[in-house]
Amino acid sequence: MSSNIQSIRGMHDFAPGPTELLRVMEGKLIGVLKQYGYQEIRTPVVEKLELFKRSIGEVTDIVEKEMYAFEDRGGDYLALRPEGTASTVRAGIQNGWLHNQQQRLWYMGPFFRRERPQKGRYRQFHQLGVETFGHAGPDMDAELILLSRSIWRVLGLPPEHLELQINTLGDPAARAEHRSKLIEYLNDHHDRLDDDAKSRLESNPLRILDSKNPEVQAVVKSAPLLMDYLDEEALQHFEALKSQLTALSIPFHVNPTLVRGLDYYNRTVFEWVSHSLGAQGTVCAGGRYDGLVEQLGARATPAAGFAIGIERLFSLVEEHMADQAPKLSAYLVALGEGSSAAAFALAERIREQQPTFTVQMNCGGGSIKSQMKRADRSGAQVALILGESELERGLVTVKFLQQDQPQQQLSLDQLVIQITENSLGV
Ligand code: HAM
Repeated sequence: MSSNIQSIRGMHDFAPGPTELLRVMEGKLIGVLKQYGYQEIRTPVVEKLELFKRSIGEVTDIVEKEMYAFEDRGGDYLALRPEGTASTVRAGIQNGWLHNQQQRLWYMGPFFRRERPQKGRYRQFHQLGVETFGHAGPDMDAELILLSRSIWRVLGLPPEHLELQINTLGDPAARAEHRSKLIEYLNDHHDRLDDDAKSRLESNPLRILDSKNPEVQAVVKSAPLLMDYLDEEALQHFEALKSQLTALSIPFHVNPTLVRGLDYYNRTVFEWVSHSLGAQGTVCAGGRYDGLVEQLGARATPAAGFAIGIERLFSLVEEHMADQAPKLSAYLVALGEGSSAAAFALAERIREQQPTFTVQMNCGGGSIKSQMKRADRSGAQVALILGESELERGLVTVKFLQQDQPQQQLSLDQLVIQITENSLGV
């Protein structure tokens, strides 16, 4: 006997119940984005591999180790998108959304990274991403932080649940100077570095700062700090952001080790971290990437954005959202010859008249007992029973399944009126 085929490790199914809650959560997120005047875009799940190499960076973990990259039958090198910023910039340049314009965009969908799966880290995950173009000032950084904080608020997450960490990475010239000083310093301590650090020394010395090896950490402790090389403008930008956050009473923690794993960032970077999610606590991450549009071939355009990990956010709110699952309004029970066509017609009439009233039809016949059992199992508020005697008299029986209320018999017209006027009480 052949064994059942399983999903790919790190890629998960969502059952109907959690999926409904996920939709409710996503609906709230989209509501906030609309309030702030952001517009949705959709881009392909597959892009040219080159796009991610050129934007995220050749020597990042994502590009070196985690991409689902492949050669297609036409000989093109493609990749499943590991993140959405590169695709948004590509789409913006290609479609002329960026030139001389200001944009506030968002997207939501699946992303793919071949990471080691663990709680909160998957190989297919979902992000809500926000990208803005044409705003150079720290006010946009503040808006992005405010927007993300509004999302926590509408989801009912208490403010102390998520910590805002911010940092500045400065501009390319300062980073280049810091980088060469860092390489110089690490070279001076070459014999104390491990193989991994030695191999990263020239390609990506900043990553050595994240080393878990205690001996390397000891060396890193006294390494030159980027903060000491920042130019006046980048420092002023950061100071202005901090004052805006303070004026808005948004608590933040400046974390000088916050460097992010993607190469395109400059100046402000930020993360919202939950301490109740274990090792994978970053729910939302982003920052400025003022150089990326030019790097991908178009005229320089300031840009900033962030992305929220949908699975991580959902695991924070799922429990207290349980009572927000949408409830089915009615289950339509149809008994006897000829009742099915009448039931379908009634269900359609109700759906047309009252779009928020949800009706599930009994399909496949069955006795009153078995149909009522299905009605109970459906979780509907009422069963609408259309039997032969009701059909003859143009009536429908309304049986309340969740409330202790006597059943009613109404004419079809009365029923539709009550449903449209919301006076059925369900
Ligand atoms: P990122 O930090 O790579 O940034 O990902 C953003 C968020 O996506 C993370 O904080 C996390 O919540 C979620 N996430 C990432 N990888 C996984 C995974 N394997 N499993 C579950 N969740 C995950 C970006 O992707 C940037 N594009 C964000 C951005 C937009 N920066 C500017 N604009």
